[in-house]
Amino acid sequence: MTLNFEPLGDDQIGARVSGIDLSSALTLSDMKTLQTALPKYRALSFAEQRLEPADFIRFGNCFGTPQPHVLAHLRLKGNPEILVLTNIVKDDNKPNGHNGAAFWHTDNSYEAQPASATMLYARQVPVNGGETLVCDMFAAYQALPEAMKQQCSKLMVRHQYGNRDQDKEFSAGQLQGEQVKQVPEVIHPLVYRHPVSLGKCLYAVAASARSIVGMPDNEAIELLTELKAHCTQPQFVLKHPYAVDEVFIWDTIATMHAAAIMDVAKDTSNTRVMHRISVKGHKRGHNFLPA
Ligand SMILES: [Fe+2]
Repeated sequence: MTLNFEPLGDDQIGARVSGIDLSSALTLSDMKTLQTALPKYRALSFAEQRLEPADFIRFGNCFGTPQPHVLAHLRLKGNPEILVLTNIVKDDNKPNGHNGAAFWHTDNSYEAQPASATMLYARQVPVNGGETLVCDMFAAYQALPEAMKQQCSKLMVRHQYGNRDQDKEFSAGQLQGEQVKQVPEVIHPLVYRHPVSLGKCLYAVAASARSIVGMPDNEAIELLTELKAHCTQPQFVLKHPYAVDEVFIWDTIATMHAAAIMDVAKDTSNTRVMHRISVKGHKRGHNFLPA
């Protein structure tokens, strides 16, 4: 089979990949092609994949090391690398993270080594809604005035789990007990040079970004809010609907993303169940690139 890439739509980002079966181990050549294609297109869609959890984890391993999520109660039983995202509320009423991604954010940007890619495998899809919105942080950086690029390139941002705009938006799933201690504040550059493409992008200006080193908090929040509004303008955003059995992966350095807001599941027509893997590090072939 030959790998093919076609644009997902009129947006500048996103490609549909055909000519590949992810239930088998990838050839080295296909692996390298996909590793390069991910930052190039920012997001890739693979339709009609029939995967066991082990197949999905093997696919994740082509890009980096799959990481069990801090919200341990949402992990797939027997496969902790996989997080189950759903709008189904069980009888026990335990928090299920419903709408816990329905705000602009960057996966694991609250950790010292953030996610490099996140992938969802669509198990149940609502008739309407349930999309993922992805914004292009390469293009957003390129569109900044030169003086702003220079200013941003010198800045370091403090990050913490959750959403700084939670008074206006949803926030991430509530941490429980010991989970709070597992995610202390971390610092990342505001402008990141992508390890694979080597292009520059704005990094994680929403949600976990709380303050800027050496800048008064009110000025920092003003700048981060301005950058978030800039990055999430329609010309930088892909809104991606899912089909059952689709795998959708996005580069989490060069994008931010948000899940569309969903009601609690009432029947199969509005039920959403996704398996998620986030990975860390970047690979070339089977090997990790230097951090
Ligand atoms: Fe996310």
